Amino acid sequence: MATRRDFADLDSSDEAVRATCDDATSCKRFATSKGYWNDPYIQYFSRSVGERKAPEINRGYYARVKGVNHLLDAFIQKTECNCQVVNIGAGLDTTFWRLKDENLLPKKFFEVDFPTIVARKIHCIKTKPPLSKPLIETHSTDSLTLDAHSLNSDRFCIIGADLRDLSNLDEKLKKCHLNPELPTVFVSECVLVYMTPSQSSNLVRWAAETLHTAMFISYEQVNMSDRFGQVMIENLQRRHCNLAGVEICHSLDSQKDRFLKTAWEHADALDMMTVYSMLPQEDVARIERLEFLDERELLQQLLQHYSICWATKDKLNLGLAQLAF
Ligand SMILES: C[S@@+](CC[C@H](N)C(=O)[O-])C[C@H]1O[C@@H](n2cnc3c(N)ncnc32)[C@H](O)[C@@H]1O
Repeated sequence: MATRRDFADLDSSDEAVRATCDDATSCKRFATSKGYWNDPYIQYFSRSVGERKAPEINRGYYARVKGVNHLLDAFIQKTECNCQVVNIGAGLDTTFWRLKDENLLPKKFFEVDFPTIVARKIHCIKTKPPLSKPLIETHSTDSLTLDAHSLNSDRFCIIGADLRDLSNLDEKLKKCHLNPELPTVFVSECVLVYMTPSQSSNLVRWAAETLHTAMFISYEQVNMSDRFGQVMIENLQRRHCNLAGVEICHSLDSQKDRFLKTAWEHADALDMMTVYSMLPQEDVARIERLEFLDERELLQQLLQHYSICWATKDKLNLGLAQLAF
């Protein structure tokens, strides 16, 4: 039987998971301040550039952002923006604003995260005109649904929910008019690993069963059974952050299996070292000139321990299985 203490522990480990959102934001803020990529909006979610991050970390974030954006943009272009994006565990991510600036806005962009994170994000949007203006510009009526834990406009929706509670998630997304008939791309960056394998499998199954034409892009750890992976796990545990789903981060095959066993038709996965070598090399050469890197081997090891896995199902025969690097 569960005791009060079990619940207290559960809460504190969830709190450590929520804190990872600030890590991601401050790393992205630092890397953009160095010129790795351009993001004029991240400054509104992270007060200062913060302490210096190692060049390996900056290059790792560069590969992550460019890799995920490559697949996301390919999906949006394939559907000519006639689609939906659902960013799960979005944290303080700024993709909505980038897509608006690049004329790549989908019919609707959804984000989901824990209610406390969502409340912080909504507060930032409400108080910073460069964030709220694009939302208002893409909304057709005077009224926009807004409260402390949710925001719903014509093109952008933020929902506070626990991704492990699927009936609540489903209900909230439908209330905000998630359209099951529209091609939909799910994005999760370092999120599924914080759920148990059965919780994340249920989530990706729910996504495949809800949408008939869809893609799921998942970025997270891989090759975690080796020594370097063990050190990564220990470092997170020291911060009380438990990788409940680390089992699925054993290999590229175990990453693909999560999708192939849950109603997705096709799945691919690459480690980030491979993705890095497939990104436009002119830009890679540019960012490699930004900071001197002492230990190329450490960068390689780091990149070999993260991956992008993407899965598709394609009732409309759009050719989604061909989307790749
Ligand atoms: C490492 S952060 C990444 C944030 C964002 N995807 C990015 O790359 O900047 C992980 C995010 O997943 C969210 N998250 C993890 N488990 C969740 C759950 N069960 N329900 C809702 N959000 C969750 C956390 O709150 C956090 O914002």
